[in-house]
Amino acid sequence: MTSIEQSISSLKAQLEEYNFQYYVLDDPTVPDAEYDRVMRALQELEQQNPHLITADSPTQRVSGKADSAFSEVQHLVPMLSLDNVFNQEEFVRFNQRLQDRLGNKESLNFTCEPKLDGLAVSLLYENGSLVRAATRGDGQVGEDITANVKTIKSLPLKLRSPFPARVEVRGEVFMLRSVFAKLNEIAKQNNEKLFVNPRNAAAGSLRQLDPSVTAKRQLSVYLYGLGIADGIELPNSHFARLELLRQWGLPVCPKNKKVAGLDNCESFYQSILNDRDQLPFEIDGVVFKVDDVKAQEKLGFVAKAPRWAIAYKFPAQEEITQLLSVDFQVGRTGALTPVARLEPVFVGGVTVSNATLHNMDEIERLDVRVGDTVIIRRAGDVIPQVVSVVTAKRPSNTIPISIPKECPVCQSKVEREQDQAVYRCLGGLICSAQQKESIKHFASRKAMNIDGLGDKLVEQLVDEGRIASVSDIYTLDLNALVSLERMAEKSATNLLEAINKSKTTTLAKFIYSLGIREVGEVTAQTLATECLTLDNIMQMKESEYLALPDIGPVVSSHLVEFFNNETNRKVIQKLLELGVHWPEVVKKSNDALPLLGQTIVLTGTFSELSRNDAKAQLQELGAKVAGSVSAKTHLVFAGPGAGSKLAKAESLGIPVKAEDDLIALLAQSQP
Ligand code: IVH
Repeated sequence: MTSIEQSISSLKAQLEEYNFQYYVLDDPTVPDAEYDRVMRALQELEQQNPHLITADSPTQRVSGKADSAFSEVQHLVPMLSLDNVFNQEEFVRFNQRLQDRLGNKESLNFTCEPKLDGLAVSLLYENGSLVRAATRGDGQVGEDITANVKTIKSLPLKLRSPFPARVEVRGEVFMLRSVFAKLNEIAKQNNEKLFVNPRNAAAGSLRQLDPSVTAKRQLSVYLYGLGIADGIELPNSHFARLELLRQWGLPVCPKNKKVAGLDNCESFYQSILNDRDQLPFEIDGVVFKVDDVKAQEKLGFVAKAPRWAIAYKFPAQEEITQLLSVDFQVGRTGALTPVARLEPVFVGGVTVSNATLHNMDEIERLDVRVGDTVIIRRAGDVIPQVVSVVTAKRPSNTIPISIPKECPVCQSKVEREQDQAVYRCLGGLICSAQQKESIKHFASRKAMNIDGLGDKLVEQLVDEGRIASVSDIYTLDLNALVSLERMAEKSATNLLEAINKSKTTTLAKFIYSLGIREVGEVTAQTLATECLTLDNIMQMKESEYLALPDIGPVVSSHLVEFFNNETNRKVIQKLLELGVHWPEVVKKSNDALPLLGQTIVLTGTFSELSRNDAKAQLQELGAKVAGSVSAKTHLVFAGPGAGSKLAKAESLGIPVKAEDDLIALLAQSQP
């Protein structure tokens, strides 16, 4: 080997080692800059010596372009599919069948693997180099997608030795939720069609003729099985084989676990189901595989699926149903939100008959009409969404959706605000929908926190004409409450107590409770700390609001409009007369506010601190804790399950740190 060949080979080995540490061990030892430096050194050497470039070089992840279609690949061993079970009873029966066939009285060992929601691939490595990647196709014949698969950064182009002379591994290519969110963020900015879900995005990305497009999609892969392996003795445990794949440098899902017996399978299933929405990727169930490979061979196959494995599916998060009609709901600030009324359908574990359509722009983007067949999605606690329309199933008599000219609640005029997607009812507080929503907001936990004054009760009180504005809450008495249907004296007394207790609040909470447009908790806090008194806040001119930190022209104009409105001033006056009060706000010196001027966003779940605690502590130190990421954000703390906020921070190049760093920052910033 010449010295140049030697340098090239050692640079390659170094990059492979860095990749292995980063993607397989999840434990990077060098900063990105070091990786980039080694990569550049290799690129330079290869450029000067093009004859030394090999297909498995880390510089060759993006190369070549398919002309028109992908060529066919005959699988060496057929790629099978999985049978499904949907509940515990079916799973128990599956296990019973296995034990019967094997004549086993003892419980079996299983490898449990999250069922990744992506696309199956087969990868062939010869002499350690990735030579071919193929889709599953019909199980016998797939398509050659080598050029696209090579762009997956976590996939080694070269295995770590000792590796077998020839090995075919199988796994799932998928897209991380954070990558999906980022892609759609960009697509939205460019007014392009959005991807429906990470799986579709991954599928579309693998089908690109130009691998440089695939590379931009940042796909991921986890391997979960072996096709053939020549020249090597394999362990008899499936789990041990997965460990072997990992030793060769292949990424394997870190959640996989080997367990003994049914009960442990069931608890694995439950714990993964619990974590489902927090995982960085989408899954649709758990795959259970008999761990003993000899037993697998004994069990064999039926039709297209092995007897020794089963997919225990989670309740679907997406379903197809019919859009029956669209109603418009009027919000606190008069905004009209279109709500889809659906043929009830079981999705995400509950029966869903309503889904949000957000606004008229969204309706246009989806091109959805009454009578359409739609795909709806309900994940975790998120409000059900209409994801897309199945246009192939569109009947000829669908009805386009249009915005009403009059408010459906108070018949006032409806207008679209300039440059905005939102239409609003101009009725203000004469609109009972707006009355209800502003009272609900006023009573909510983060506002005046009136325990027991829930949404249903507010609606009842407004409908019966007992209250029409937030100050009326403080005029309610026992008689008025007990005369309501379903209201016992005990709960009425408790409610009055809670109402009374809420009179003691803080200036920031009071401002927030008023429900001024675009004035969230953060802005309310800024107004309180900067202006100190309600009088000051109410008297300020637009230019004075604008001079406050992070208050822009939109918020300023809403503030002016709100406080200039005679009705609003009267309501505030009444609230004060009825006894709402707060302790005086004292100006903190800047020394006590080491995080002053810092805008921080918290996202995902934290284990040591609650997000609310973290937020309160950061605010105490002068930081602004914002609900969304923008160019003005200084720092993001992300826990597991972070999605679009994390993606946005990454796309804007905003530093992202973990919970440990947050705890350290809080400790170190204590004055
Ligand atoms: S094993 C012989 N393991 O599910 C067994 N499949 O419904 C073949 N999948 O085509 C598959 N995660 O695309 C297996 N941990 C996992 C999996 C998994 C996702 C997909 C795969 C397969 C489909 C079958």
